[in-house]
Amino acid sequence: MADSGPDLILTSDGSHSLRSPLFGESYHSLHGAVQESSHVYIRAGLAHAHERYNGASELSILELGFGTGLNALLSLLYALERGLSIHYAAIEAYPIDAELAARLNYASVLSLTEAESALFMEMHRLPWGKVGSLSTSRMGGETKMSLEKRHGFFEELSDEAAYELVYYDAFAPSVQPDCWSTEMVKKVRRAMRPGGVLTTFSAQGAFRRRLQAAGFEVERLPGPPGKREMLRATLPF
Ligand SMILES: C[S@@+](CC[C@H](N)C(=O)[O-])C[C@H]1O[C@@H](n2cnc3c(N)ncnc32)[C@H](O)[C@@H]1O
Repeated sequence: MADSGPDLILTSDGSHSLRSPLFGESYHSLHGAVQESSHVYIRAGLAHAHERYNGASELSILELGFGTGLNALLSLLYALERGLSIHYAAIEAYPIDAELAARLNYASVLSLTEAESALFMEMHRLPWGKVGSLSTSRMGGETKMSLEKRHGFFEELSDEAAYELVYYDAFAPSVQPDCWSTEMVKKVRRAMRPGGVLTTFSAQGAFRRRLQAAGFEVERLPGPPGKREMLRATLPF
């Protein structure tokens, strides 16, 4: 038998995702990985937070589950378009290797330039446990993304008031309930700045109520194609 690392799969919008034999789950919606990430994390998350912080020139993002790096890549592309600087911290307990990352077809699906594709691979090659800097100049301005990849469990999160935006992208609550617990919600809330925004593909009622109990205002938004709803939770300023 080969190792029990994730398998490459194709989703309905033509973009790759992975399937974890460990959890028996895909990393993205089978209706479309790029479609889902763009909808849940970029449009409902990053674009909304950017507007909420009045077009700030810098934003700090926390991702629960680095996985394929697709959310980080789409965030970088958003930032490059707008001259935004991003500090991106991502927690991941089961990192994929660079060889598998190189097989993901995001460069062709997203029509990336060579420089952008190289940045995606650089994200995967950056060492865990360090803050790496990804930089390029485009549209007349230098845009930087610092990427901090943490090899560890979500449960170890202990940051305080550090992030304006959280991508809550663990496997579904039915698969790993501990990652969606009241304890986790409290840790994530503590890690966020006033006015912060959290988005997730999940629309689970119990998770929504935990967010509300922790002081978030929660919206149920239309999900990406194939999914009725998703959640966006916002902290007061
Ligand atoms: C739904 S996938 C999303 C991955 C990523 N955001 C992407 O777009 O590819 C969930 C990710 O969380 C990671 N993960 C699951 N449980 C974890 C835990 N307790 N602590 C840290 N990472 C975990 C998985 O290995 C996987 O990469």
